[in-house]
Amino acid sequence: MFFSKKKAARSADRVLPVHIGIIMDGNGRWAQKRGLPRMAGHRAGAQNFRVITRYCNKIGIKYLTVYAFSTENWSRPKEEVDALMKLFGEYLEEALRDFRDENIRTRFIGDVSAFSDELRALIEETEELSSDKTGLVLNIAMNYGGRAELVSAVKKMAEDKLSPSEISEETVSQYLYTAGQADPDLIIRPSGEYRTSNFLLWQSAYSEYVFMDNILWPDFTTDDLERAIDIYSQRNRRFGGV
Ligand code: IPE
Ligand code: IPE
Ligand code: MG
Repeated sequence: MFFSKKKAARSADRVLPVHIGIIMDGNGRWAQKRGLPRMAGHRAGAQNFRVITRYCNKIGIKYLTVYAFSTENWSRPKEEVDALMKLFGEYLEEALRDFRDENIRTRFIGDVSAFSDELRALIEETEELSSDKTGLVLNIAMNYGGRAELVSAVKKMAEDKLSPSEISEETVSQYLYTAGQADPDLIIRPSGEYRTSNFLLWQSAYSEYVFMDNILWPDFTTDDLERAIDIYSQRNRRFGGV
């Protein structure tokens, strides 16, 4: 398929992506395989997210965008959505403590106005406390959808009364949640699904996708990340040229 378990040779001239996106998929199936409730998978996934984030910072990745909750995920059973909101709150409280000493700047992309006051306060505090960090920029995509992001950008342009002649690709980029950031070079999706599920639609125009079979997000290791980077490194990016 697109990915093999075989360790790719790590060449000295490998290219490190500036921006990595990860669709953290497969938590439910991970739990199901173990006869556990789906939430056990989400908890394991959240733990793994911390490991992978720290590792990205350590190896010098500049931007990491993780897909944590999509605009479509509200359609899940209420119990799962409620439990996920609670988990996000717990996670943020922990992250506020743990990431304090790490050089990671955390930002949230998506429509956070849909969350509870409590969760929104935590989101704000997390962003504020890490705003002066100079290492990895971590974008957590929560209540994020690529289409919703484009709709919100178009609305903001209309509010700002931009004339058609003022609107270029650069303008659109500046109205997105990721304004000012490099587009993702590499997008990784474990769990064996080969789709974007509405992740970074505009920004991924020239991203390299690595879809990984046989790995569910809670089992995704730093070695798997290294393998994805090796695969990326061997790709020939042409951007429409020759
Ligand atoms: C991804 O894991 C986490 C979220 C979407 C919140 P899933 O919950 O989609 O896990 P699977 O795909 O059902 O295994
Ligand atoms: C994508 O996973 C969203 C996140 C990982 C947060 P989903 O599990 O929601 O995607 P589909 O439903 O399989 O496309
Ligand atoms: Mg899924």
